[in-house]
Amino acid sequence: MSIDPLFSPVMLGTLELPNRIVMAPLTRARATEAHVPTALMARYYAQRADCGLIVSEATAVDPLGMGWFRAPGIWTAEMVDGWRLVTDAVHAAGGRIFAQLWHMGRLVLPDYIGGELPIGPSPIAGEGETFAPRPAGDTSLFLPMKPYVVPRQMNEEDIARVVASYGSGADNALAAGFDGVEIHGANGYIIDQFLQSKTNQRTDAYGGSLANRIRLLREILEVVTSRVAPGRVGLRISPTSARKGMGDEDPGALAEMIGEVAADSGIAYVHLIEPIASGFVDKPEHPVMTRLRTKFTGAIIQNGSFDGDTAAEFIANGQADAISFGRPYIANPDLVDRIRTGVPFAPANFDYAYVGEERGYTDYPLS
Ligand SMILES: Cc1cc2nc3c(=O)[nH]c(=O)nc-3n(C[C@H](O)[C@H](O)[C@H](O)COP(=O)(O)O)c2cc1C
Repeated sequence: MSIDPLFSPVMLGTLELPNRIVMAPLTRARATEAHVPTALMARYYAQRADCGLIVSEATAVDPLGMGWFRAPGIWTAEMVDGWRLVTDAVHAAGGRIFAQLWHMGRLVLPDYIGGELPIGPSPIAGEGETFAPRPAGDTSLFLPMKPYVVPRQMNEEDIARVVASYGSGADNALAAGFDGVEIHGANGYIIDQFLQSKTNQRTDAYGGSLANRIRLLREILEVVTSRVAPGRVGLRISPTSARKGMGDEDPGALAEMIGEVAADSGIAYVHLIEPIASGFVDKPEHPVMTRLRTKFTGAIIQNGSFDGDTAAEFIANGQADAISFGRPYIANPDLVDRIRTGVPFAPANFDYAYVGEERGYTDYPLS
């Protein structure tokens, strides 16, 4: 299979990408403990700037939605200044970068928010455990783990605050020099918690029917596209993923509804996590891409367990407009060149995926 299809330019809304290789969002936890992006992060992203588009690691829009030690936020002027280091470095290296706007909802541990309960659509805990903050004085590299807790059910005021924080996050992303924003509607975070039937058991206008479960996403799309031109907005979704206790009664219908709402908003792309082999998430038994496509005619970025050959095949067949790579980008800053020249991908050291400084982050060699 020729890899040429990956090296033709493509329009993503109003942004032209020189190739079809996208760096998927990867939380790497190298911001400060106050969630401010750093010069080290700027170096890491600049090393990877030859892809068609970088989607930043998930970036919290509100302190109540932040539950990850040293992940970045975008709700203060200092955070905006930190992100400016990153966007300047990526642009100087000839690249393009969108900010992934994030709110973790029920998956925030109380340890991150002054002991309060996190907020979620319904009082149902996420499944499993997550990283707790490093206790003061602890010098170990590795973080303690704690189970997710039962969240407080959100009222209308909570919902309005989340929607507004996506608006201010979008404003701040532009102020920080990002080329656009990606709304994080995937992986069991707050938007996904409202979308999927297992985690949304509300009986008000935000729960029950699919039309109600999608209301939060619709409102977030409205506020974000009122701040950032729709041609520079994307949406990431994972309607078939069951990680962290997610589940939906009919992911195909959900994907079709998301496609309709995304089309109404005029956004540039939908970034669908639908792996072609089980890996970070399981390969779905019933893929939903076709259902999404029946309603959404903008660009599609597909993600999940691709290599150069399978990515090129999907582009050549018209199954996607671009392919994003997640885990391969950890250890391969020169992923674009490796795909172009057929050099195998280097394996990542996952011990340093979510902790550390330069090691396992900016020190991977070129091929
Ligand atoms: C270390 C790590 C961090 C991740 N962080 C994010 C994130 O911040 N936002 C997001 O939407 N997905 C995140 N993901 C999921 C990836 O973007 C991607 O969907 C996943 O790795 C599957 O793609 P791959 O098979 O190319 O690795 C993360 C995955 C890994 C391994």
